[in-house]
Amino acid sequence: MPEQIIRDIQQNGWILRPQFLSAEDVRKLNLYFQEKRENFVPAKVGKEKQRLESVRGDHTLWVDPLDPPEVMKPILGFLQDLQRELNLNFYMGLKEFECHLAYYPAGTFYQKHLDRFSKDSSRSFSFVFYLNEEWKEEDGGELVLYNKAGEVVKIIYPTPGTFIGFLSEEFPHEVKVSHRERRSFTGWMHTRIIY
Ligand code: OGA
Ligand code: MN
Repeated sequence: MPEQIIRDIQQNGWILRPQFLSAEDVRKLNLYFQEKRENFVPAKVGKEKQRLESVRGDHTLWVDPLDPPEVMKPILGFLQDLQRELNLNFYMGLKEFECHLAYYPAGTFYQKHLDRFSKDSSRSFSFVFYLNEEWKEEDGGELVLYNKAGEVVKIIYPTPGTFIGFLSEEFPHEVKVSHRERRSFTGWMHTRIIY
């Protein structure tokens, strides 16, 4: 685990690494995506688990972090190392994580939100890896991170293999309208066991 990752999180509360996954990893994950395509379901919103396309338009497939498909093992190994480092350096007490593959069909988005549900204090660190084999700015679908004052902190295009991680409490964020299908692997580290 490169020390710079921990330093970035300490300084900014977020970490961005373009091309974190190789083109080959992204290609393999896309094959898996295609294989499982029929199993994705429209994502739900909040604790009430309502489907609200005016809020978010992605379709998701949950992945068991304790029993991941072969193709996802390198990413989950990295996340386990990262979780350990976050605990060692920041005493975050992270215990579990949950994760899903997601695709946003062309024309969909995810309105500005915080990853912590109002009465749920457990989501502490959010991460996303982008699995698009190519992406141009005009394809849209950018992730916009805000600070609590509502100022834009960072705009991230979902380019191949990019990794973004951030403290869930600190950064409201949104996914702008995507003009083509947008693929990702997304998840959250929790401060306690949630199940
Ligand atoms: C989420 C989310 C960001 C992204 O799923 O909660 O904010 O860039 N995703 O896909
Ligand atoms: Mn989110």
